[in-house]
Amino acid sequence: MTVSEIFDSMDYGTAPESAAEALAWLVDGGDRFGHFIDGAMTAPADGFESRNPATGEVLATLTHATQSDVDAAVTAARKAFGRWSKRPGHERAKYLYALARLVQKHARLFAVLETLDNGKPIRESRDIDVPLVARHFYYHAGLAQLIDSELPGHAPLGVCGQIIPWNFPLLMLAWKVAPALAAGNTVVLKPAEYTSLTALLFADICREAGLPKGVVNIVTGDGAVGEMIVNHKGIDKIAFTGSTQVGRAIRAATAGSGKALTLELGGKSPYIVFDDADLDSAVEGLVDAIWFNQGQVCCAGSRLLVQEGVADAFYAKLRARMDKLRIGDPLDKCIDVGALVDPVQQQRVTHMVDANTGGDTYRAACPLPETGCYYPPTLITGLAPSDALMQEEIFGPVLVGCTFRTPAEAVQLANNTRYGLAASVWSENVNLALDIAPKLVAGVVWVNGTNMFDAAAGFGGMRESGFGREGGWEGLQAYLKPDHPTKPLKPILPHSKPEEPEVADPLDRTAKLFIGGKQARPDGGYSRAVYTPRGRLLGHMGLGSRKDIRNAVEAANSARSWAKTTAHLRAQILYYIAENLSARRTEFADRISDLTGQHGKTAKAEVDAAIARLFTYGAWADKFDGAVHGVPLRGVAMAMNEPVGVIGALCPDDLPLLGLVSVMAPAIAMGNACVLIPSEPFPLAATDFYQVLETSDLPAGVVNIVTGSHAELAAPMAAHMNLDAVWSFSSTDLSKTIEREAAGNLKRTWVNNARTRDWFNAAGEGRAFLQAATEVKNIWVPYGE
Ligand code: NAI
Repeated sequence: MTVSEIFDSMDYGTAPESAAEALAWLVDGGDRFGHFIDGAMTAPADGFESRNPATGEVLATLTHATQSDVDAAVTAARKAFGRWSKRPGHERAKYLYALARLVQKHARLFAVLETLDNGKPIRESRDIDVPLVARHFYYHAGLAQLIDSELPGHAPLGVCGQIIPWNFPLLMLAWKVAPALAAGNTVVLKPAEYTSLTALLFADICREAGLPKGVVNIVTGDGAVGEMIVNHKGIDKIAFTGSTQVGRAIRAATAGSGKALTLELGGKSPYIVFDDADLDSAVEGLVDAIWFNQGQVCCAGSRLLVQEGVADAFYAKLRARMDKLRIGDPLDKCIDVGALVDPVQQQRVTHMVDANTGGDTYRAACPLPETGCYYPPTLITGLAPSDALMQEEIFGPVLVGCTFRTPAEAVQLANNTRYGLAASVWSENVNLALDIAPKLVAGVVWVNGTNMFDAAAGFGGMRESGFGREGGWEGLQAYLKPDHPTKPLKPILPHSKPEEPEVADPLDRTAKLFIGGKQARPDGGYSRAVYTPRGRLLGHMGLGSRKDIRNAVEAANSARSWAKTTAHLRAQILYYIAENLSARRTEFADRISDLTGQHGKTAKAEVDAAIARLFTYGAWADKFDGAVHGVPLRGVAMAMNEPVGVIGALCPDDLPLLGLVSVMAPAIAMGNACVLIPSEPFPLAATDFYQVLETSDLPAGVVNIVTGSHAELAAPMAAHMNLDAVWSFSSTDLSKTIEREAAGNLKRTWVNNARTRDWFNAAGEGRAFLQAATEVKNIWVPYGE
């Protein structure tokens, strides 16, 4: 090519990065690797090959972990946990700082190895993945430093099993390992089978940093090894990033085990372009949204929604830009789009796109290398919202889109998905953008931007995109538990029918259910007699059924506008409930005494504590503030606490009034509607309590009460698709049923595994409840020039 031709085409020459150092590191390792357990590499054993997807060449042979490898890793992590968790935060901060520095020192090696192993362009691994990894360790060195003073009363969880995907191999490792270590946990991590090499290099720097043996353990292998970790009895928490399908299986597999769980799953994130957007910036944003990392990004802006009036102009600009994308050797610094991770993934994407018959498909005109796992940047427009490609995660460089007319329609289309990970909003009108952002069901919303990440801002999804956040103070919470003592709770049974029951009161005293603001008879028409401990008949309770749960959930869903009321109004109503309860204090105390057999003074104390609790959440309603995170960009990342939605809860059995109020008040203070199943043995305090609710200006449907058997109602409640969270404080251990049934729509669960909690004291109220009642949404708003 002559100089004049180069000037004419303004084409770049190739600028390949050298792979020599990374290949030498592989040779040093003998091209065969074992696991990293208890501070040392094990001898290589039977395994599998790790290939460069751009060329197909074998980079190394890795060992497939056996059950005894996983056992050894868990044992090492358990042994290390004792000392590691007891070190002052500052000690752990020093190690995290050392890891951050070593990542920076070996940045080039990490970047090249990542690109060789994964196929992503070196520009990305060098400028995005690896710097974000270092930033993550720095940030968490800071959290480790501050944890003792800022989060007293918290303890680490123990041994964390961490399973990560192949799209950001080292970055996902950092997102998992850094907060776990900062909080004082130890780790058994499994990288994805396609991309384990940077994790093994990370093992090297753990040794270089002098990290105590067993704090980080890395085992390699496929999903079968993942399952061994998930099912291991010696593990206290599972943190998983990957497909929704596997996430759901893990939710079901860990049900009832007492293991903590966070899931970062798939997405089909909307990318909304309004007609007043800066269209050129929005096109450039799309290059980042869907062609960054070949579209293999869980939060990829993979669903384009463009306002009708500008759609044609926008598509034309987009196609022109696509044609200019450069696809090829990922090690070439001039490349925009590299190789997909593996032929399996290439075939998956090909099959999905080939099966589509709708819309217009446009493939970028840029030339494709002849060999290697490449797939052309593709745009499919004119699809219907229900088309498979508009709903399913493609996880490749394929953008699908349709148009909308009004902002309301944009919101409707954007939320028409089972996922809720991320969203981008493009508009030059700040009023419009900030009106739309809170309406989108997504854990992260970027205004006039996309794929912005930082260690200080939590990342994570809603709906079937999983639960839990990674990054920021909120992410750290997922590796901590409150440090209050608990012990096993025995099932509390109703007082039984005496041998010679007294003559029944001729007046029917069957307490009804409370659904949609009205008293309702149980659908099945059954009831159960409720006695005092001495056998006096107090009345009857309605036995709620699956159908009553359905009605209650429906009523709660029609009260979702409660979330839009002001926090001030919610506070006022909580105070008003307290005032009305206070007026009937003696009557409630007598009722509790009759039901439970408690001394009058103790029963009065319960009523007083319930009144105080209502005040607590009246106080919190307008004070559980979000945050503005200090992310490194000209702009703000606003962390907003949003209500979870509709919460179903099994209330504590032992304290029929305080237990119910302690669960209800934080839920409604944060704007949720709820379905409460009160104390099973002592339900009549709850049915008296709804008379208080009826006179306290609470809108119909915000609180619904269904009395009945916890064991019978737990499953239909946990399985209901229109519930967003289920909590259980029952004395019957229903955690397995609830967590297993909740896997359907991956609703949040908070279960006690039938362990006690001191409802009268700090363990019975406060931030843990407020956090369970909210989801953090991070809205990124860049500004300035
Ligand atoms: P995957 O979810 O199967 O793999 C992720 C990780 O989980 C890997 O480390 C894998 O070994 C492990 N794993 C697999 N089965 C497991 C099991 N039963 N128990 C425990 N661990 C298990 O993802 P895969 O098959 O690699 O990709 C398939 C699709 O999943 C992609 O096309 C994409 O749509 C989606 N995906 C989404 C990711 C995200 O970040 N949201 C990341 C990776 C994949």
